[in-house]
Amino acid sequence: NDPVVAIVGVTGAVGAEFIATMDKRGFRVGKLKALASARSAGKTVSFRGQNVVIEELTERAFEGVDIALFSAGGSISRKYAPIAVKAGAVVVDNSSAFRMDPNVPLVIPEINANRIRDHKGIIANPNCAAITALVPLWPIHRKNRIKRVIISTYQAASGAGAAAMEELVESTRANLNGQVYMPKVMPHPYAFNLFNHNTAIDPDTGYNDEETKVIKETRKIFEDDTIAVGVTCVRVPVLRAHCEAITFECEKPITEDQVRAIMAQAPGVKVIDDRARNYFPMPIDASGQDDVLVGRIRKDLSDASGHSISMFVAADQLLKGAALNAVQIAELLPQRVMA
Ligand code: A2P
Repeated sequence: NDPVVAIVGVTGAVGAEFIATMDKRGFRVGKLKALASARSAGKTVSFRGQNVVIEELTERAFEGVDIALFSAGGSISRKYAPIAVKAGAVVVDNSSAFRMDPNVPLVIPEINANRIRDHKGIIANPNCAAITALVPLWPIHRKNRIKRVIISTYQAASGAGAAAMEELVESTRANLNGQVYMPKVMPHPYAFNLFNHNTAIDPDTGYNDEETKVIKETRKIFEDDTIAVGVTCVRVPVLRAHCEAITFECEKPITEDQVRAIMAQAPGVKVIDDRARNYFPMPIDASGQDDVLVGRIRKDLSDASGHSISMFVAADQLLKGAALNAVQIAELLPQRVMA
């Protein structure tokens, strides 16, 4: 029988992409359970031409569920993922709640699909900024170990959810109409502005939580505790798809041609690197695409030793950064009946 699949946070920005991605990839679903807060209960979502009634997330919601995809925030996952596991479901969790738990595999299928089988009920989907950097960095790291990487992010509204996307549109409109807009979701004015990532700052280190996630998750996914990661995460007024400027230093010398050749073969990567036309990865092109776009591949001129390369990448935060990666994980579960 095809699995019963629950989506927790079905009305959210990622929830909608869970449905679209399962549909696009022909993921077989026996029955879909659409779960959200009491606010949404009774409304419907459309799945494969059928209207599915949204149910309130409760402790009893997981009876008979085989696979549960969670994207309703960390506190909902912390409370309900163990309940779903107890009811017999395998959880693929998009929140940060369990990512660093040693009993929970943290999986990017292009990198460590083999870790899925270690799960004890929960598999964590990595942070979107981490996924965007690591998909292209992994095949380089395997050939010529990356000792050190510096990442600067340009993160879209989508990473903060549907309400943040709406705030970007509404505040931009208000600005253009000469009206004052008071931010409701973001900590600062979003239209025609950018700011430090809207997660808590560690008062001692000065790093925000997003940056700490990228550092820790890189080490866990690469299974390399010594890789040095420097990172600055910034929210930019882009609706969807994150960009990142990445500079990495390898153990052995590396050339841009070698990186280009590795990228051309890399799963989940598409090279967009047209110097003649000044055409490189952009959020507008990454939106709706499965691949991480990679370009501006060039020698890092600050490292005369020839061990360092810089590049610029873009990926759809809602797809490879969230829903697509989770559905790819779900596709590798034995609960999934292969088409
Ligand atoms: P709802 O629309 O009913 O509030 P986003 O990441 O786009 O902000 O979406 C968050 C998702 O998490 C939404 O689907 C939202 O449902 C859901 N959610 C938020 N709070 C709860 C809750 N207490 N119980 C269940 N789902 C929740």
